[in-house]
Amino acid sequence: MTERFITSTLNKRDPAKETSLRPPKFADFPGQEKVKDQLELFVAAAKARGEALDHILLCGPPGLGKTTLAYIIANERGTNLKSSSGPAIEKPGDLAGLLTALEPGDILFIDEIHRLNTTVEEYLYSAMEDFFIDIMLEQGAGARSVRLTVPRFTLVGATTRQGMISSPLRSRFGLNIRLDYYDVDSLTRILKRSAGILDIEIDDLGAREIAGRCRGTPRIANNLLRRARDYAQIRADSVITGQVAADALGMLQIDNDGLDEMDVRILETIIANFRGGPVGLKNIAVSVGEEEDSIEEVYEPFLIQRGFLVRTPKGRVATPKAWEKLGLSPLRGSEQQTLF
Ligand SMILES: Nc1ncnc2c1ncn2[C@@H]1O[C@H](COP(=O)(O)OP(=O)(O)OP(=O)(O)O)[C@@H](O)[C@H]1O
Ligand SMILES: [Mg+2]
Repeated sequence: MTERFITSTLNKRDPAKETSLRPPKFADFPGQEKVKDQLELFVAAAKARGEALDHILLCGPPGLGKTTLAYIIANERGTNLKSSSGPAIEKPGDLAGLLTALEPGDILFIDEIHRLNTTVEEYLYSAMEDFFIDIMLEQGAGARSVRLTVPRFTLVGATTRQGMISSPLRSRFGLNIRLDYYDVDSLTRILKRSAGILDIEIDDLGAREIAGRCRGTPRIANNLLRRARDYAQIRADSVITGQVAADALGMLQIDNDGLDEMDVRILETIIANFRGGPVGLKNIAVSVGEEEDSIEEVYEPFLIQRGFLVRTPKGRVATPKAWEKLGLSPLRGSEQQTLF
């Protein structure tokens, strides 16, 4: 058993494993208290008025519960949810097909909405705002447009890249929700709930140990829980205690701050090859052999949030905390100056 897991693997979507762990209601969804309050009020008000919900945009790093919340919103509002994703809606006709199949009040969930192409996005504007779309039939001289009315629906969009949402699209959402990394208490509750569903024995210290080392991310917490169970079955008597969890995570090379091998490699590269930065994303990606996208979406936000990295106009810079993490002493300002 010398498996190693890096975060981009531990944070991959896996619908087969995830569906059973999705809480169906706000009450079963630990953490994100402000977001939940806001959404609960929003749903209750629309319900009381008997109206469709206004469009909602959910933003935040992968694995924090955007898809889960979309299903909870539909469940609490008592409507159907149809799911699609930015890259799957290739042509305006695909969008028209989705929209005209909806019932009034239904939710259309578009995941990775930042990946919609611009033509489709423009069609979406009139659908969101005025509930119609003008579709062009035929090409050239015989071209004419036909107006299709769309039932009053609610668009719930999800994105890991808030910055890539155009402002016309953003402005058409009535509610813009931002999810952030979870605290240890919420993650402990999530882990205990998951352990109950999966029939895994874990004690308080075991749950807290995983909660503190899962990058504030429920999906990673759940995946580490499964790994710790495997470890507990073979090396301990099937119960995940604090010590068992610590040993299992150590074996996966996840350190006490929750950093994995790739995080450390990123920090090492910036410090050893680029004297602490500033360095551009491309250079980092090439040096560590990871895709730019996953560095930007998965690794960087966490390293920034934990104070190991900062983004400057010139590029990424390792903070003194990153140097210390690697057991080095940061270059002093004057020395750094002479290097550039
Ligand atoms: N607050 C929570 N409580 C319990 N489980 C949660 C919570 N948030 C997320 N999860 C679990 O974590 C997993 C990932 O959540 P989800 O798929 O909703 O994330 P996401 O934000 O949509 O990620 P992505 O950006 O990759 O699509 C699911 O199994 C879900 O059940
Ligand atoms: Mg999702």
